[in-house]
Amino acid sequence: MQQVSVIFPYLPIPAHRRRDRARQRLREMFGTIIRARKASGRSEEDMLQCLIDYRYKKDGRPTTEDEIAGLLTTMLFGAQETSSITTTWTGAYLLQFRRYLAAAVEEQKEIMKRHGDGRIDHDVLAEMDVLYRCIKEALRLQPPTPIVFRWSHADLAVTTKEGEELIVPKGQIVSASAAVANRLPHVYKDPDAYDPDRFAPGRSEDKAAGALSYISFGGGKHRCIGDAFAYLEIKTVWAHLLRNFELELVSPFPENEWNSMVVGVKGKLMVKYTRRKLVVDGN
Ligand code: HEM
Repeated sequence: MQQVSVIFPYLPIPAHRRRDRARQRLREMFGTIIRARKASGRSEEDMLQCLIDYRYKKDGRPTTEDEIAGLLTTMLFGAQETSSITTTWTGAYLLQFRRYLAAAVEEQKEIMKRHGDGRIDHDVLAEMDVLYRCIKEALRLQPPTPIVFRWSHADLAVTTKEGEELIVPKGQIVSASAAVANRLPHVYKDPDAYDPDRFAPGRSEDKAAGALSYISFGGGKHRCIGDAFAYLEIKTVWAHLLRNFELELVSPFPENEWNSMVVGVKGKLMVKYTRRKLVVDGN
């Protein structure tokens, strides 16, 4: 999505026409699924069922087919773009700062020693702390949603770290930028450096200024609910790549695509790869 789409969502440009056609097609596909589920009389334990069964607290009315299709579309794309962008940035940083790549490969070997090379499930992924910190640090430096917005429902008093008191008046839109907050020098040491160890026990810089020190997933009531799942996805991709490929970055380290709403990598990130099978003893 481009930035212009936020300000003028219905501007008659080719991108919006393609979006509307795709939205209509998705609407039809989800509609078929929703109707089939309702007609079957089955009740499954999944998100679709939650949305079908939901009743609005205000008047008790059920969700409409259109609303369910809209929510499913949002979840599908919101979650997919942010996770794939973070997967790419993680790779860019690992291949640029190869000492962390070596540490992540070493961790895979240790894990393969404990669990064998065929098993990558939830519990095994939970042991990948080094990889977790590498992803988290890429996401600190490159949050795909660099700004979140809130509507102030009441006058809000805020005290700055210098002790100055400010009032955010009721009715204002307030924005917080992860791109700025995640690099504050009084929270993060050498904030522009890629240093996954800053999250290691003993340093825990992401807690240095309280709960909102690290806001790549937003914060407060509308904080991302998919963060744990995102880490699982990204770890799965990178565990597979680290175990099966030797990788080298052949394009320059990427710049940001600021023109896009969900900010990713500008242009192509080119990587040279050689297939390999990581073995526990040796390489
Ligand atoms: C690296 C990946 C991801 C990033 C960086 C990310 C980031 C964010 C951010 C910044 C917000 C807004 C929070 C706010 O306004 O304070 C958000 C909301 C949300 N995210 Fe994610 N997200 C990611 C992955 C996912 C995944 C995988 C899912 C679902 C499986 C997901 C589901 C949601 C939902 C449902 C919300 C809305 C929460 C609400 O409004 O109450 N996200 N995400």
